[in-house]
Amino acid sequence: MSAVIIDGKAISQQIKDEIREKTALLKEKGKEVTLAVIIVGEDPASKVYVRNKKKACEYVGFNSLSYELPEDTTQDKLLELIDELNKRADVDGILVQMPLPKHIDEKTVIDRIDPSKDVDGFHPMNVGALCIGERGFVSCTPAGVIQLLKRGVPDLDLTGKRCTVVGRSNIVGKPMALLLLRENATVTVAHSKTADLDQVLLESDVIIAAVGRPKMIKAHQVKEGAVIIDVGINRMDDGKLCGDVDYENVVSKVKAITPVPGGVGPMTIAMLMNNCYEAALMRE
Ligand code: GUN
Repeated sequence: MSAVIIDGKAISQQIKDEIREKTALLKEKGKEVTLAVIIVGEDPASKVYVRNKKKACEYVGFNSLSYELPEDTTQDKLLELIDELNKRADVDGILVQMPLPKHIDEKTVIDRIDPSKDVDGFHPMNVGALCIGERGFVSCTPAGVIQLLKRGVPDLDLTGKRCTVVGRSNIVGKPMALLLLRENATVTVAHSKTADLDQVLLESDVIIAAVGRPKMIKAHQVKEGAVIIDVGINRMDDGKLCGDVDYENVVSKVKAITPVPGGVGPMTIAMLMNNCYEAALMRE
């Protein structure tokens, strides 16, 4: 069987182009979209992410406000800035890049962001809304996975399908499971304590791997014709990136699979842009 290689770069571009068009229409009506991005400290990976987020804003036609705070910024100062941005009528979305320096409590910071501006979908109000099927912002990576499944494998109907999410983080695994449930899938969340992971995976029509362990999911664990989404981005000793799935050996067995890089990665920013657009629309 020749697998469909799901092109996250192309799908993310498609979504950004759709947002760019909608943003231009909103602008004609006099409403601009503005995202405030806060980064504390000098983490090199975070700086790259933030730069890419600002570039995406520019592409789709959003204003971006950038706050680059020194490593020794106090928690109170950061909370003050969030309070100010919460109040500003011209700010639609607020994003605080994680991780934060150790002396700042991430939960306190997330809880302080106005849920209607929480475009990361990290605030407990938004997580709760997802849980009970109400409107709210959804964490960008799992939202991107749903788009990859819908746009990348158009004949896949998730209704009744056995979907296994491997990993139970608050940012990916848990919201992923809730989104799949919303699509009427039969959802299993597997994790490091799961008994007989092989059997669980072999019975799965769809596997979402989000553990952060290089090439952990092997060909013998995957059902013939399954659909595999690999959220993992691991850097190998040789500097190359690889996913949580042993891609080279799995690809010949499956119906569709995402590559790493070029699969889930590009989707996160596209979905962030989508959340910002939705935030602006609500505010209009
Ligand atoms: N750090 C790594 N990923 C993310 C993300 O999606 N949002 C924020 N705010 N920080 C991150």
